[in-house]
Amino acid sequence: MIQKSLIIALALSTSISVSAKRTIVDEEAYLQYEKEVQAKISREDMVKSMHRFGHGKLNRRVTQNTIEQLPDAITDDDFDIHPADKVALGKFLFFDKILSGNQNDSCATCHHPFAWSGDGLSLPIGEGGDGTGVARTTGYLESEVHERVPRNAPQIFNLGAKSFEIMFHDGRVRRDDSRPSGFLTPAGDDLPMGLENPLAAQAMFPITSSAEMAGQVGENSVADATSVDNLAGVDGVWNQLAKRVQDINEYVELFKGVYSDVNSAEDITMVHIANAIGAFEGDIWRADNSAFDKFLRGEEGAMSPNQIAGMNLFYGDAGCSGCHSGQFLTSNEFKSIGMPQIGPGKGDNLPGFRDGLDDFGRERETGDIADRYRFRVPSIRNALLTGPWGHAGAYNDLRAVIKHHLNPADALANYDQTQVLLPYRRDLSALDFAVMNDEYSRNSLLSNLDIENVDLTEEQIDRLMDFLDAVTDRNSIDLRTDVPSKVPSGLPIFD
Ligand code: HEC
Ligand code: HEC
Repeated sequence: MIQKSLIIALALSTSISVSAKRTIVDEEAYLQYEKEVQAKISREDMVKSMHRFGHGKLNRRVTQNTIEQLPDAITDDDFDIHPADKVALGKFLFFDKILSGNQNDSCATCHHPFAWSGDGLSLPIGEGGDGTGVARTTGYLESEVHERVPRNAPQIFNLGAKSFEIMFHDGRVRRDDSRPSGFLTPAGDDLPMGLENPLAAQAMFPITSSAEMAGQVGENSVADATSVDNLAGVDGVWNQLAKRVQDINEYVELFKGVYSDVNSAEDITMVHIANAIGAFEGDIWRADNSAFDKFLRGEEGAMSPNQIAGMNLFYGDAGCSGCHSGQFLTSNEFKSIGMPQIGPGKGDNLPGFRDGLDDFGRERETGDIADRYRFRVPSIRNALLTGPWGHAGAYNDLRAVIKHHLNPADALANYDQTQVLLPYRRDLSALDFAVMNDEYSRNSLLSNLDIENVDLTEEQIDRLMDFLDAVTDRNSIDLRTDVPSKVPSGLPIFD
């Protein structure tokens, strides 16, 4: 391409100097020639290619600016390492529907190996739904789902790394040494001691959500406990679920093998369960062997020239590394970039506005209006695999996600609603685009932006796509072997 630009630039400069200096023998023939050249190369292309050529925007050698910002290569020391038997136990629990109130879904329903640790949908279909991944439906008859889950199910690649201390799009679970349990969570001081890492702390919560796993009041006793916020009580959610596991002999034997403080069924607690799940998630879905990783380890040639050009843009003119920094390409901060808001929302902007269909993001946790629409900067490792993207899964086109960052106002005004992956049901679908179809609400999403417009050519966007390819680990493409053939409860693994 550089060569092409060079040729174009040379062609232009000769044609100009020719017309200016030389005595033109056959003026008519020359004008005809000039017209043809102009028709072939539009002025805009010309300016663009000269601009690019002149500024070296597509440098295919690693620039000094990039070198200064590159993170250290990832090593085993960056992760919590867990014993194999604990990982294996966690795998069973992760896929076992025994942990859901109505025994009809599991963690894997929304974080499935077939969907690269997500569910492949814009917004998840929780308990009551039917089917796996993008084929999941909203369920049937009285067991059908009551609502869409309001946020996209994030990828869980690499979350066993020690640097991931914050969970959820709004950071409502996080490591906090000032708390007795070591974690700040929605459960406050009810959170038991002994949770080993943020993944384990996180695992205490999906089971307490009526839409995700617990079910509706009156359907089962776990859902009843959830509805009155009884998590830690004697008959609370956590004890009830631990009791279910205690009643399965195969589990009891496995827990005894893994934990020195489990000698009989009654010793098994939700903390043991959550720690095993955390070990599984952290161990199995490491994804730190991408071309970028190999390059960081010093393997010259691991990245293609186009990927390197994309990396230079990422750390340079495109400004991505301002937020997607460090080993996992996230600063772990909360930023507002005006991503489209779709689905039922989190109850923000109550009657009079959008009737609760908004999601104020981080503000929900801090109560600070300055945090409105801020969401955690996600890791974009494995980005090629983890769509739909954004906290509400509004984009199913990675290029559109990049373009959104470059000009959020333009992206919102031209947002293509047909790309979402949301199983249709008349009442649920009626809410899906309420915010986006309302000009005032849509523009509100832009009211607190932390990002500035950047002008990039389509070719530069191509190179950013190449870099996102370079940070995607080829070992993560086929995860089929991560699905167990059966689980100790005997419940089906697939719907
Ligand atoms: C019905 C779908 C659903 C089920 C079932 C579910 N999750 Fe999730 N998971 C989500 C959604 C949606 C989020 C993001 C919610 C938010 O940020 O508010 C999430 C977030 C997470 C995160 C945080 C990831 C991050 O980067 O912040 C982890 C880890 C996780 N889930 C693990 C689990 C585990 C373990 C289970 C089972 C105990 C489980 N999930 C069950 C949908 C689900
Ligand atoms: C000001 C901070 C900031 C900058 C700069 C930034 N991003 Fe982001 N990015 C975010 C935030 C915050 C999100 C999540 C927003 C949401 O979900 O509402 C995000 C989401 C993404 C996603 C989707 C990830 C997912 O799993 O949903 C991709 C891909 C991405 N960014 C790539 C880029 C690229 C490429 C650039 C450079 C052109 C860039 N970002 C610049 C903050 C930033």
